[in-house]
Amino acid sequence: MKMLQVKKMLFIKALITPFILSFVISCSQGEKEIDNIDEKVGKLLSEMTLEEKVGQMVNIGLPAILEGDVYYAPRDTAIIDTAKLAMYIGKYGVGSVHNTPGYPPDKDEWHRLIKQIQDYAINNTRHSIPVIYGIDGVHGANFVNHSTMLPQQIGLAASWNTELAGRAGEITAYELRAASIPWNYAPVIDVASQPLWGRMYESFGEDPYLISQLSNAYIMGAQGNSISDTTKVTVCLKHYIGYGAAVNGKDRANALIPENNLRQYYLPPFTAAIKYGALTIMLSSNSVNGIPCHINKYYLTDILKEELGFQGFTVSDFSDIDFLVDAHQVAHDKKEATKQAILAGLDMIMNPYNADVSDILVELVNTGEIPVGRIDDAVRRILQVKFKIGLFENPYSNPDFYKDFGSEKLAEDNYKAASECITLLKNENLLPLPGGSKILVTGVASNSMNYINGGWSRTFQGQDTSFNNPEKQTILDAVINKAGRGNVKFIQGTGYEDDINTKKAVRAAGGADYIIACLGEFPAAEKPSDIDELTMPQAQQNLVKELAKAGKPVILVLVEGRPRIIRDIEPLVQGILLAYLPGDEGGRAVADIIFGDVNPSGKLPFTYPKYTGNALTYWHKKADIRDKSWRFNGFYPQYEFGYGLSYTTFEYSNLELSADTLAAGDSLHITIDVSNTGNQAGKEIVELYIKDQVCSVSPDVKKLVRFRKINLEPGEIKTIEFILSETDLAFVGKDNKWITEKGYFTIFIGGDPGKLMEENFLFLK
Ligand code: BGC
Repeated sequence: MKMLQVKKMLFIKALITPFILSFVISCSQGEKEIDNIDEKVGKLLSEMTLEEKVGQMVNIGLPAILEGDVYYAPRDTAIIDTAKLAMYIGKYGVGSVHNTPGYPPDKDEWHRLIKQIQDYAINNTRHSIPVIYGIDGVHGANFVNHSTMLPQQIGLAASWNTELAGRAGEITAYELRAASIPWNYAPVIDVASQPLWGRMYESFGEDPYLISQLSNAYIMGAQGNSISDTTKVTVCLKHYIGYGAAVNGKDRANALIPENNLRQYYLPPFTAAIKYGALTIMLSSNSVNGIPCHINKYYLTDILKEELGFQGFTVSDFSDIDFLVDAHQVAHDKKEATKQAILAGLDMIMNPYNADVSDILVELVNTGEIPVGRIDDAVRRILQVKFKIGLFENPYSNPDFYKDFGSEKLAEDNYKAASECITLLKNENLLPLPGGSKILVTGVASNSMNYINGGWSRTFQGQDTSFNNPEKQTILDAVINKAGRGNVKFIQGTGYEDDINTKKAVRAAGGADYIIACLGEFPAAEKPSDIDELTMPQAQQNLVKELAKAGKPVILVLVEGRPRIIRDIEPLVQGILLAYLPGDEGGRAVADIIFGDVNPSGKLPFTYPKYTGNALTYWHKKADIRDKSWRFNGFYPQYEFGYGLSYTTFEYSNLELSADTLAAGDSLHITIDVSNTGNQAGKEIVELYIKDQVCSVSPDVKKLVRFRKINLEPGEIKTIEFILSETDLAFVGKDNKWITEKGYFTIFIGGDPGKLMEENFLFLK
C-alpha cells in the first residue's frame, strides 16, 4: 500500500516537475519565440513572389471551391471541387477561406472539408503555408452542427457577468477548434447606439465600458494565455467602426460621428480589446461621415495601427471592395476600390466568390500604384498571426479529441448564461407563478427554437427549422415540463406580423389562470433584419390587447434583440420578462424564472425607449432632454439602461467616499453596503456612474465607470468597494484628446437607475 502511494507520488511529481519547468522555460522563451516568428516571417517573405504574397491577402468563401454553384446552393454534403482547389489554393495561393457550405456541417464534416483544403495548401504550394479558416461563431460555434448555441451577445451583456462572458468565449473557441476552425469573427464590439439597428442583438449593447469589460473577458476566454493552444481560437473584433450608429438605423448605412464622439464612445472597446491581445479586426461595411471605413486611412492606419499600436491584421467585410463601387460610390471600378482600401490600411480582402482581387493587386503593384512595402506589411501581419496561432503545427484538429463538444456539461453552462441574462422588467406581485395553475401559452415566439436563437443559428438567417436539436426545449416545452401537460394550453395567436388565430387564443384565455404571451422578432441577420418601425408589430400587440380583456393576469415574454416599443400593451400586463435571444437553453431558463426556480438577475444593456421620437442612449447631454415646458425632464424611456428587477429586494446604505477630494495620481475609494432585504437569495448588479458637473465639452448626464455582480443570501449585507482614479474622470476635449479638468464630480451608485444614491467630490489637478 505504502509502496503504491510512494510510487503514485513520484509519478505525480514526475508529471508536475516537467510541467512547471516547461512553463518557466516557455515563459522565458516567450520573447525568443516572438523573435523566432519574426525571423520565420522575414525569411518566408524574402522567398515569396509578388503573386504568392498577394494570395495571402485574399480570403475566399468556401462555396467558391465546392462543386456546384458558388452562390450558396443548398447542399447536404459539400464536395470540394479539386479543379477549383487547384486554381484558388494552388495557382492563386489564396491564404484564407471562410463561410459555411450553406448547411452547418458537424465537427467531423468540418474536419473533412478543412483537412482537404489544408493538405492541399501544405502539399501543393511552394511554401506550404496553411490557410486561416474563419467563421462567424457569434453565439457559440453556431455553424457547427450540434454545438452549444449560447445566448446572443446582447443577452450575455444583460447578465453583466464577466465570468459568463469569459466562459462563452471559452466554449465557443473549444467547439470551433473541434471543427478545425481557428479564427472566429467575434466578438462584436460595436457600440449599438441606434436601437433600430438589426444587428444590435450581436452586440454587447450601448455602453462602451460594459462592452469593453465583457469583450475583454470574452477574449481571455477565447484566446487564453497561449493562443496556439488547440482549444483556443483567435478572435476577430467587429466591426471597425461605427456600424451600430447609422443615422437611419439600417444595415451598412452612413453614420455621423464627430471625432470627439468616435474617441469617447466608439473607439474605447477596440482600444481595450487590442490591449487584451486581439490579433485581427474586421472593418465595418458602413461609412462614417460619408467616408467608407474600408478606405479611411486616418481610422485604419493613423489611429488603429499607429496610435493604438495594433500589430495584427485587418480583414475586409464580405465583398466590401465591391461595395465601395456599388453602394458607397467612391470608386469607378474594383481596381480603384482595391487600391484605396489597401493604401488605407486593409490587409486581407474578403472576396467570397473568386480570387480576381489577386490579379488586381499584382497589377496595382506592377504599375507602382501600391508600393510593395504596403503588400509586405500586410503579408507580414497575416503570416505573423498564422505563426502565433500555431497553424503550421496544427492546420486542423482531431475532432475526437474534443470530448466535451455539445455535451451536457456545456449545455449546463449555457443554461446558466441564459438564466442570468433574462431581465424582469415588470412584476405586479405576480411572478413567480404558483404550481398547479392552468396556463395559456401563446404568441409567435412561444414554440420556436428559431425565435429564441435568432439569426446566425445553424444557417445565416437562422430561419431553417431542420437543423434544430429536437432535445432542446422551446418556451412552451419548458412550461409544459414545469406545469404539467394537462395544465397548459397552447394557441399560437399570431405570426410575426399577421393574425393567425387571435380569437381562438382569447377564447382559451377564459379557461386559464394565467396567460404567458411570448412576442418576438422574426429571426434574421444583416439586411433582412432592417425594420422601418421600432414598435412591436401591431398583430402581436393586438393579441395582448385582446387577451387582456379576459381579465386574467398576463406575463409578457419578449424574445427580441432590440427594444421593440411596447408602450400601449405594457399597462395591460402584470409581468414582463425580456428574454433577448437566449439561445438553445433559453426556453428552460424562461420557464424556470416564471416558476421561481431561478431568481432573475439581468439588467438592461441598452435604454428601452417608450416612443420612437424619444430614443436616446443613457449617455446623452442635459440639453437633449429639455421638454416643451423648458424643464429638463424630457427623457422618459420605458425602462432605463441598467434596469432590472429581482424576486428579492436590495437596499443600499452607508455610501462613503474615502475623501471629498481626489488629486491627480491619487485614488478615491468608494464603499457602499448592499443588503438583501427579501426572503430569497439573489444576484444584484451594483452600478457606479459618474458625472462631471461642469467641463469644457458639455458633459454626459452620467457615465458608467464600474459595476459588480454579487450574490446575497436573504438578510446578508456586503460592503462593496470601488476605486476610482483620474483616468475615470477623463473625457475627450475640444482638441479631440483625452483630458481631465479640475472641478466637482457626482457619483451615482445603486442597482436601480431610478433610485441611485449620490455624493459629490472635488477633483484637484
Ligand atoms: C458580416 C460580418 C461577417 C462576414 C462573414 C458579413 O456580411 O457583416 O459580420 O463576419 O459577413 O460572414
